Amino acid sequence: MKTCIKNIREIVGIVPAGVLRKQGREMNETGMLKDAYLLIDGDRIAAFGPMAEMPGDADTYLDAESGLVMPSFCDSHTHIVYAGSREGEFLDKINGLSYEEIARRGGGILNSADRLHETSEDELYRQSMERVNEMIQKGTGAIEIKSGYGLRTEDELKMLRVIRRIRENCPALIRATFLGAHAVGRGYGHEEYVSLVCEEIIPAVAKEQLADFVDVFCDEGFFTVEDTDRILTAGRQYGLIPKIHANELAVSGGVQIGVKHQALSVDHLEKTTDEEIEALRSAITMPTMLPGSSFFLGLPYGRAKDYIEAGLGVALASDYNPGSSPSGDMRFVMAMGCIRMRLTSVQALNAVTLNSAYALGVSDEVGSITIGKRANIIVTRPLNSLTMIPYMYQTPFIKYHLLSGKSI
Ligand code: NIG
Ligand code: FE
Repeated sequence: MKTCIKNIREIVGIVPAGVLRKQGREMNETGMLKDAYLLIDGDRIAAFGPMAEMPGDADTYLDAESGLVMPSFCDSHTHIVYAGSREGEFLDKINGLSYEEIARRGGGILNSADRLHETSEDELYRQSMERVNEMIQKGTGAIEIKSGYGLRTEDELKMLRVIRRIRENCPALIRATFLGAHAVGRGYGHEEYVSLVCEEIIPAVAKEQLADFVDVFCDEGFFTVEDTDRILTAGRQYGLIPKIHANELAVSGGVQIGVKHQALSVDHLEKTTDEEIEALRSAITMPTMLPGSSFFLGLPYGRAKDYIEAGLGVALASDYNPGSSPSGDMRFVMAMGCIRMRLTSVQALNAVTLNSAYALGVSDEVGSITIGKRANIIVTRPLNSLTMIPYMYQTPFIKYHLLSGKSI
């Protein structure tokens, strides 16, 4: 089955096969082609070129009517499997409490863990799928989902089984991260909980093959560099690839320990010094920033420009979760990248597509317009240019969203 998209004003996000991420000056470039067609064969991008060369033998033709074509967003950092909401804490925050104060009062992550404990697997799946569908409607085609509201063996496994079910039933590409070390579970001592994660939960997760990645909230008041070292070592023994939450609340040493363990990404980075930037030079690790939590918690935005100037790549993700970023809108993330972090629209596009796909370990499969990649594609309404997307950041812009070549 061949589908041809015709009358495309401009294709953006064209990347040669084999390029898995962009760094430094490469962040300033994206392949573009004006007045173009794009051919999809089955679930793959098969060809693209100037309209004058459009093939005549496709089964269906879709008229882009002068819209742009771009790769679907990739969201490399979410916590969308959770039960209920935490709007009471939203009010606490408005009334002046900080994220740390809410957590210390037993709210925050532990509040979500209590609700998750009381919620059945089926109900958790139903609520989570609603969020996934909302994200897909907004243009996201690949999603990383973390555990971390279980905080005891059975509940962590429950979350990861829900993620597996989402992976089997939704058209977006899903990857799972075990984040047992998100907070110390109720009833455990700190050391006792770290041992539980390393000695009981990680082996159980690996036995059922429920996760691709292992993550730790390495930050002030949560887990130390030593805890993180231990947990990542245990995870790696079971084939889990490290990712890290670092430097959200304080300069935590999380970046350095992530690089030491060849983490695929280090995420948050609201509080970054030059040492973190230095530590990331020549690493395989993708610095990932989450402007949604900066926006919602009133934290500084990451120093994305400085990273790029230092020759590094930057990925942007939503951090969709009930406490620090209750939104999975990657177009808004892209807009904040431009408005608050002063990225150009091309840099921001690279950050929300190819580089976030890299941080998800799937940039050989999605994240760009590349022949052979999965046809995860947004066809926009008529727009002057890519810059219109972050500029008119509230105006609906998606005309069609195709995942694996199928309109959703
Ligand atoms: O990435 N920082 C740690 N974890 C989440 C927040 C989780 C929550 O508050 O429920 C984050 O911001
Ligand atoms: Fe997070």
